[in-house]
Amino acid sequence: MQQITIRRPDDWHLHLRDGAMLNAVAPETARHFGRAIIMPNLVPPVVTGDQAAAYRDRILAALPEGAEFEPLMTLYLTEDTDPDDLARAHADGLIKAVKLYPAGATTNSASGVRDFDKVRPVLEKMAEIGCPMCVHGEVVDDDIDIFDREAVFIDRVLDPLRQKTPDLRVVMEHITTKQGVDYAATGGDALGATITTHHLVINRNAILVGGIKPHYYCLPVAKREEHRLALRAAATSGDSSYFLGTDSAPHLDEAKLSPCGCAGCFTATNTMSILAEVFEQDNALDKLEGFASLHGPKFYGLAANEATLTLTKGDAVSYPTEIKTAEGPVTVFDPMMPLHWQVS
Ligand code: NCD
Ligand code: ZN
Repeated sequence: MQQITIRRPDDWHLHLRDGAMLNAVAPETARHFGRAIIMPNLVPPVVTGDQAAAYRDRILAALPEGAEFEPLMTLYLTEDTDPDDLARAHADGLIKAVKLYPAGATTNSASGVRDFDKVRPVLEKMAEIGCPMCVHGEVVDDDIDIFDREAVFIDRVLDPLRQKTPDLRVVMEHITTKQGVDYAATGGDALGATITTHHLVINRNAILVGGIKPHYYCLPVAKREEHRLALRAAATSGDSSYFLGTDSAPHLDEAKLSPCGCAGCFTATNTMSILAEVFEQDNALDKLEGFASLHGPKFYGLAANEATLTLTKGDAVSYPTEIKTAEGPVTVFDPMMPLHWQVS
């Protein structure tokens, strides 16, 4: 197969940031994607409906003329979130989900949840109004090894939480383990999982072998090869529990290349090329549309995009190694393999 046409894809987990960074990265996503779930972990975070509306306007203003891209907004769940404000923003169609960060789990998560009992009324309200919760699924306890944080979160936090609030619809964001893959399959329509582009390509060796490689460091951190293979099998399976959330997370090079470097891989620019290569390698090109364009809308109760995207196979395609922002460069994720599929 030398050419495939799929419904225009969506990105169900995306960081666009704000200001100069937003202006530089928004066009990268809008080029190929119809919609994206926009992460609210700004500084300060997007916690109220008013803040989400203002952020949406800044995103729309950053898009190139004529872009056909719709940002789907989220609120950042804190222990002080007002269930009524949340319900209003959801009823107005302003927000499509609420994001749960355990406090301290990742970039800009200090305002996240420490005591899950404190957010119980908000979770009940979300279950009642059908507002999904996107979960960063890692425990932050000092005694848990960073490579085990996702698996432990599922047992200690996610499963008990879902049993207490069975009607709450949950997306396990950016799963990185076989345990995540297996658990996501158990929840029927009430549970979904996003998988990033980079976690289909790298295992933890990419970060650590031959010198430390900050551009491959993200959270949740990439795991062993067996987990990457489980993610590949899930993404290419055709099972609608799994859908694309790139977690494209731009940081300036100076923030990545530091003694305490930021977590995040920037994949917006070349994601569709990488995914086509990955799905072809696994003889699953016919499953790419489901993963990138159909399963996500199905979970969120939205129609798939009417527009289409065509990928053509040819000689190796190259992408810029970095994109420029007014504050400095952002390195584009290098998949460490030749790419042959180009969006036409
Ligand atoms: C994200 C970021 O930089 O905002 N970083 C990352 O490594 N994925 C936060 C997140 O999604 O954990
Ligand atoms: Zn993220």
